[in-house]
Amino acid sequence: MIRGIKMFKNISLPLKITLIYFLFSLLWIYFSDSIINILVKDLEKLQFLQTIKGWFFISLSSILLYLLSKKLFSYVEEERDKLAKANELLEKVLENAPVIIFWKSKKGVYLGCNTQFLELMNLKSKDELLGKTDSNFAINEKEDYISDDMLVMSTKQPKLNYIETITPKDKTLKILNTSKVPLFDKNGSVIGVLGVIQDITEEIEKQNQIKSQEELLIQQSKLASMGEMIANIAHQWRQPLSVISTLSTGMKLQKELNISNEDYEKQSLDNINANAQYLSKTIDDFKNFFKKDNPKSSINTKTLIDKTIKLIDSRLKIRDIKIVQNDQEIEFDSYESEIIQVLINLINNSIDAFENINTNKYIFIDIKKVEDNLIIELKDNAGGISSEIIDRIFEPYFTTKSEDKGTGIGLYMSKEIISKHLKGTIKAATVDFNYKNENYTGALFTITIPLNKISTTE
Ligand SMILES: Nc1ncnc2c1ncn2[C@@H]1O[C@H](COP(=O)(O)OP(=O)(O)OP(=O)(O)O)[C@@H](O)[C@H]1O
Ligand SMILES: [Mg+2]
Repeated sequence: MIRGIKMFKNISLPLKITLIYFLFSLLWIYFSDSIINILVKDLEKLQFLQTIKGWFFISLSSILLYLLSKKLFSYVEEERDKLAKANELLEKVLENAPVIIFWKSKKGVYLGCNTQFLELMNLKSKDELLGKTDSNFAINEKEDYISDDMLVMSTKQPKLNYIETITPKDKTLKILNTSKVPLFDKNGSVIGVLGVIQDITEEIEKQNQIKSQEELLIQQSKLASMGEMIANIAHQWRQPLSVISTLSTGMKLQKELNISNEDYEKQSLDNINANAQYLSKTIDDFKNFFKKDNPKSSINTKTLIDKTIKLIDSRLKIRDIKIVQNDQEIEFDSYESEIIQVLINLINNSIDAFENINTNKYIFIDIKKVEDNLIIELKDNAGGISSEIIDRIFEPYFTTKSEDKGTGIGLYMSKEIISKHLKGTIKAATVDFNYKNENYTGALFTITIPLNKISTTE
C-alpha cells in the first residue's frame, strides 16, 4: 500500500490527473449503479434516476476536471517561472563571472557568449556573433582556434589553461589563458565546445615591467661590485707590477752599463714570470666571479671564505679589519659565485660601518650545517643597525649612505639571490657579544640555505 502511494507520488502530473479521473469515474459508476439497483426496483423510476445520475456525473466530473486542470496549469506556470528565474540567474552568472565565456556547436557555430567575449572580439552585439563560425572573422589566429575546437571535440578531452593570443581587426594583440571543454548530451555524445578565457595581457605586461626593473637592479649591482673589483685589481697588481718594473729596469741598466750577470738575469726573469703568473691568476679569479650562469658545484667552506676574502682583501687590509672564521670545514653543493656575491655585499657593509670605529675591527664568519640547511652567520662589531631602520634595510634603494658611497641595493640583491635563486632566507639583527674578554655590539646576518632544494640557474 505504502509502496503504491510512493509510486503514485513519483509519476508525472498529467498521468496523475488521468488516473484520478479514471478512478473517480470507475468508483462512481460501480457504486452509484449498485446503490440505485438496491434502492429502486421500479423500472421507470430507475430510468429517471439513471438520467439524473448521468447529469450529476457530468457536473461532478466537470468540477473535478476543472480543479485538476487548474492544478496542472498552476504547476506549469510555476515550472515556467522557475525556468525563467534559472535562466536569468545563469545569464547573471555568465555576465558577472570574471571570465570570458563562449560556446559553439559541433560544427563550430557560435551559440552563446557573455558580453566580455563580444568585447574581446571587438563586436557590438550578439547578432554579429551568433550563427557564425571563426572563419567569418578577420582574426589572425582563427586557424588555431578551429583546430583546438576539433581536438577537444574529437578526443572528448578538455584542453586546460593554455596560453594563446587574439588579434582582432584594428585591435592590438591580447594574451589569453584559455580552457576548452567538450559539451555532451544526455547520451554522452559531443554536441559542442565551451570556452573559458582569461585576458592576462595586463598581468604579463606588469610581469615584464618588474622583470626589466629587476634586470636593471642586477645590472646596477654588478656595476657597483665591478667598480669595487677594479679598485681591488688595481691594488693587488700594484705590488707585482712594481716588482716587474724594478727587475726589468735593473736588467736594462745592467745591459747599458755592460755589467750584466747571467745568473742575476735568469733569476730576475723567473721572478718576472712568477709575478706575471700571479697577475694572470688574479684576473682569472675575478673573471670566474663575474661569469654568468655558473653551475652548481661542490663547495668547501674554507675555500669559499678564502676566495671571498681574496676578492676584497685590499679593503680589509687598508682598514685593518680581521676576519675570524671557525675552523670546522664543511663540504656542500651550491652556487659558489652567488654565495660569494652575497658575502661580499655583507662584508662591504661591515667595512662601511667600521668607518668611524677605532677599536679592534672584526668580522666573524661562521658556517655550519643544521639538518638539511646550511647556516651562514656573518657578524661584525661595528655597532649594529638601529632599530628604526632594521626593518627597511632589504628594500631596494634603501640606504643611509651618501650618494657616492651607497645606492641601497646591496642587501636587496643579496635577499633576491638567497630567496629566489637559493630558495633560502636572510635575516638581520643587532647583537651584543663578548670576544676575547671585550664586550661588543654589532650587526648579525643569518643566511639559511636549504641544501636539497636549490633551484636551477634562473
Ligand atoms: N653591518 C652593518 N652595520 C650597520 N648598518 C648596516 C650594516 N649592513 C647594512 N646596514 C644598513 O643597511 C643599509 C642598506 O644596506 P645595503 O647594502 O642594501 O645598501 P648600501 O650599503 O647603503 O648601498 P650599496 O650596497 O648599494 O652600495 C645601509 O645603508 C646601512 O644603513
Ligand atoms: Mg651595501
